[in-house]
Formats: sequence, C-alpha cells, structure tokens
Amino acid sequence: MSDPISNPGSEQDRLIIFDTTLRDGEQSPGASMTKDEKVRIARALEKLRVDVIEAGFPIASPGDFEAVKAVAETVKDSTICGLARALDKDIDRAGDALRNAASGRIHTFIATSPIHMEKKLRMTPDQVVEQAVHAVKRARQFTDDVEFSPEDAGRSEIDFLCRILEAVIDAGARTLNIPDTVGYAIPHQFGQLIETLRERIPNSDKAVFSVHCHNDLGLAVANSLAAVRNGARQVECTINGLGERAGNAALEEIIMAVRVRPDLFGCHTRLDATQIVPCSRLVSSITGFPIQPNKAIVGANAFAHESGIHQDGVLKHRETYEIMRAQDVGWSENRMVLGKHSGRNAFRMRLQELGVAFASEEEINAAFSRFKDLADKKHEIFDEDLQALVTDATIDA
Ligand code: KIV
Ligand code: ZN
Repeated sequence: MSDPISNPGSEQDRLIIFDTTLRDGEQSPGASMTKDEKVRIARALEKLRVDVIEAGFPIASPGDFEAVKAVAETVKDSTICGLARALDKDIDRAGDALRNAASGRIHTFIATSPIHMEKKLRMTPDQVVEQAVHAVKRARQFTDDVEFSPEDAGRSEIDFLCRILEAVIDAGARTLNIPDTVGYAIPHQFGQLIETLRERIPNSDKAVFSVHCHNDLGLAVANSLAAVRNGARQVECTINGLGERAGNAALEEIIMAVRVRPDLFGCHTRLDATQIVPCSRLVSSITGFPIQPNKAIVGANAFAHESGIHQDGVLKHRETYEIMRAQDVGWSENRMVLGKHSGRNAFRMRLQELGVAFASEEEINAAFSRFKDLADKKHEIFDEDLQALVTDATIDA
C-alpha cells in the first residue's frame, strides 16, 4: 500500500477544510465555551493547519463577539470566519469582530427551503433572493472573502437554488456553501445535487462549492464525501463531529478518508494529521463531551487489536489489519489489547517488552493458560496483571 499520508497534489485539487467546532460545534447543547477556551481550541486548529476557522456568531452575544475578535487577533495562519444572518446588523457585527484578522471571512446565510421560507421567515422567494444579494454586497464592504449559505439547501428546490446562487455570485460571494441543515440527504442524491448546481449555474466557476452536512441519519461524512466526489472543494466539519443535535461531519474522518483513498477523491488537504488526536482530546476536555471508544480515528479503540488472529496479523505485517498508522493521526502507537481473544504471540511479545524472560516453553504455556483464565473474568488485562501472572507461574513451577 502506498503511504497515504504524503499526498501533496496540485493547488487546484486542494480541499479546503473549514472547521466550525467553535460555531456549529458550540451549538451542541451543553458545549458552550468561554473566550479563552475558544482561543485555545483555535490555536490547536491553527496547528492542525485548518484553512478556515469559523470562530462564532458575533451577533449572538457580547461574549461571542469578543471570542471571535480574540481568535481573529491571535490566529494568523488560518482564515477566521464569523457567521451572520443576511441582516445588516449581523453583517456589521461580524465585520467589526474580524477587523484585526490577518485573513477574515464573513459567512452569511438565509433559508431557501419552502418550509423555512413560508413558516419561519414568512418571506416570498423573491424577497429571499433580494435579501441574500443585499447581504452579500454589504459583507463585501468588509472583506473580499464572502461565503453564502442557502440554509436547508438539502430540502430546497433545485431551480430556486440555482437562481439564488447565481445571483449571490454576481453580488460577490466567492464560496457557495450547500448545507444539509437537517441531515436529510442521502449520499448519491447529495453528490448529484452538487454536480447539478455546478453544471446549471452559468457563473459557477467563479466560486468554490462547499458542503456542510448534519448527522441526523448518521450520514454527514458520507454525504460530504459524495459531494467532494462531485466537485465540492470545501468541506465544513467539526472535531469529533460535535454539533447541533446529532452533530456535524467529523473533521478527522473526512481528512483521513481523502488521504487513505486518493484513488477515489483526487484531492488533498494541507492539514498536519498528526495534530488530530491532540486536537480531539482538547475539544473533548474543554466541552466535557467524551469520545466514544469505537469512534473512528480518535476513539481509544481505533487502533487497538484484541483478537489473536488480528494481533498475529499485525505483528507479522501492520497493514494486514490497519489502513492507517496510529502515529500519523497523533497516537503514540497502535495498541495490542490483551483480552480473552488474544493469542500467544501478542502475549509473549508484551512480556518481552516488560523485560520478562522465560526459561522454557513450558513456563510460557503455564503463564499463558493462567492469562486465559484471568481473561475470562476481566475485560482487559493490564501490565500489572501480567506481572502478577508471571510471578505466580514462577512460584508454582
Ligand atoms: O446547518 C446549517 O444550515 C448552518 C448554516 C448556518 C450554514 O449551520
Ligand atoms: Zn449547521
């Protein structure tokens, strides 16, 4: 297998990673962060080499305004973005918060699905287009880097999406973000949507297509990847998949899917993947949201092998059961978990690492059978258990 990590590629095939942990991630009930916590996470995201950090929603509260401002003043190697509804007061507030950014982006949005326009906004489609165009033009007075999102695009009508997106490009939007706000999309259909928009919007080559997928059906990452296969060149995501309701697409899964399968995606990111695990831990400790053990890439078991067959395979050749190296995403190493499915090979290896030398095969066999007895009673056997087992074996002999 070729090394999936060194995968430089050309600029036009670059996938922009837009992290919204500090904005949509913070919208998880119970995940709100202080200004200082946001700055700490933003620094970690900068170290991870995320392209764009959405630091917050400046109109939402004075605290969020200050947090976006502080992040914009601290982080210089990533673009800092502030969210704004398509309203003058929101856009001005975001522009103000981003004033000192080395590179600042305003992300403005308005809903475009029939249900949102009729029941929530109580506006006609014509009014929505007019407000979107006005918002983008106003945001352009603060920065050339303006992103527009038709909220609930996943449930919007394609003709209307084409119309509004064409109009906001003419007004100066340079990133068109297609949100699946309620996690309603299915991968093949969402990929098709991106392809159709790119084909049907006459000035689509003037903007980068982006996607922002929610995980209500557990499909946020799959939908984002389907969009990338169909020409999206920005993905909005969060560390550990934090976000509203069931969360957003998980950054770590997107990055590693694109790296491990360059044959399918043909694009690359500029991220330093070795920072993934440290960043994931930081977000978990600050928000108090634990990481499930079997979570892809960042879960404690993501690179752990327990069964004898798997351990034996990995000890002979890592790639028999691993498609990435634990070290490449920031773990110190893969982990052989000793439990009831483990085999003699892993058992012997771990004891060698602990400095235990056996005088004979019989001694190993005795210790191994004690180990199996204990493993039937205990989920995981730790080094201290092994030391005790070996001592017992020696005493018995
Ligand atoms: O899910 C959503 O639609 C959003 C927008 C503000 C982009 O978070
Ligand atoms: Zn969202």
